[in-house]
Amino acid sequence: MPIENSKLKMKLDRKDILKALETITIAGEGKNMVESGAIANVITFGDEVVVDLVLHTPAMHIKKRAEDDIKKTILELVSPDAKIKINSKVEVPDKPEIKGKSIPGIKNIIGVASGKGGVGKSTVTANLAVSLAKMGFSVGILDADIYGPSMPIMFDVENEKPISVMVDGKSKMKPVESYEVKILSIGFFTAPSQAVIWRGPMASKALNQMIFDADWGVLDFMLVDLPPGTGDIHLSIVQSLPITGVVIVSTPQAVALADAKKGVSMFMSEAINVPVLGIIENMAYFTPEDSSESEQAKQLPENKYYIFGKEGARNLAEDLSVPFLGEVPIVQSIREAGDYGRPAAMQTGSIIETVFEEITRNVVREVVSRNENLPATEAVKITTMAGCSAVKK
Ligand SMILES: Nc1ncnc2c1ncn2[C@@H]1O[C@H](COP(=O)(O)OP(=O)(O)OP(=O)(O)O)[C@@H](O)[C@H]1O
Ligand SMILES: [Mg+2]
Repeated sequence: MPIENSKLKMKLDRKDILKALETITIAGEGKNMVESGAIANVITFGDEVVVDLVLHTPAMHIKKRAEDDIKKTILELVSPDAKIKINSKVEVPDKPEIKGKSIPGIKNIIGVASGKGGVGKSTVTANLAVSLAKMGFSVGILDADIYGPSMPIMFDVENEKPISVMVDGKSKMKPVESYEVKILSIGFFTAPSQAVIWRGPMASKALNQMIFDADWGVLDFMLVDLPPGTGDIHLSIVQSLPITGVVIVSTPQAVALADAKKGVSMFMSEAINVPVLGIIENMAYFTPEDSSESEQAKQLPENKYYIFGKEGARNLAEDLSVPFLGEVPIVQSIREAGDYGRPAAMQTGSIIETVFEEITRNVVREVVSRNENLPATEAVKITTMAGCSAVKK
């Protein structure tokens, strides 16, 4: 009697498949694929298995990597003869409703600060902005670095000038727009080679004009790229602007961390009292590759060189009990993209896009939670006389 074909066929067990899939983590999700809800269903028929995969990011390289990982894992851990079919679906979660009320039309003003110079505030500001815009938020950048404005170069709008428009019978500056981000910078009003010497009140006046005499329209977020340090200009800004919160950027280096700590204490001091949304570690490690498709990049965890020390900013966040918002590696393409005028996070499918998506999600989460739990920040009135008293307006 002929032996029935089906009797020879192996029978896959759904439980074994799920157990195997628990060993895979999707980039940026933290939990394993099964726990994170990415596996919507697994059906087995003899030696065939159908996996329904739901991803929460539109990034194609993450979809491809997740599909490859599923196939490889089932073949290795369950059966080398399994016939695998994957149905992938992308469901990007709705962007949270951004409430907030800083100044009319501008819902949230977020300062990007550091103590030390050159740690990557402007780079982080530019990449956060494009990442927020990609998520569908309306975003503006106020480049408040009066000593060295960077945004015109980083957004390739060096030769542009804001035009003047009439709004309700008043003449207003129209921010320059690039990659769906509205930008005003002191750099638009000074020659690149011109060294501008600003005194606190002058700088404050110029910044006030860029905020209040400009046609920003409706913004979910205005990011303010602050100059380095914890000086005069920072006080001018918190005096004129109701800041929702600040993000502190630091490298893992001891000198940068010491200055970042000063920055955090300045904003958190009783006199200023601006919420610190968290710390971002920039230049967290060096990695020579930025192409998500290369074998080397897939080995990223083994490809990290902690040249400025390891996890310094993460530990500082823990010490100061402020949220840690994520780490950005040193990659050549971030520097090149900054100089070229196209923030690196715009590069679809790159690791940097994923890195900034994760950090941006964390920043948005902190803003939402801050707005739920704390009253709106008011501009601060500071009297810098002997004894240095400060009161809320
Ligand atoms: N993660 C990174 N990988 C590679 N290069 C980076 C990274 N972050 C910043 N850079 C580069 O380091 C330099 C300093 O960065 P950036 O201008 O953003 O710092 P900053 O804190 O704004 O400086 P400043 O205090 O002068 O305003 C720039 O050339 C930038 O392209
Ligand atoms: Mg800068």
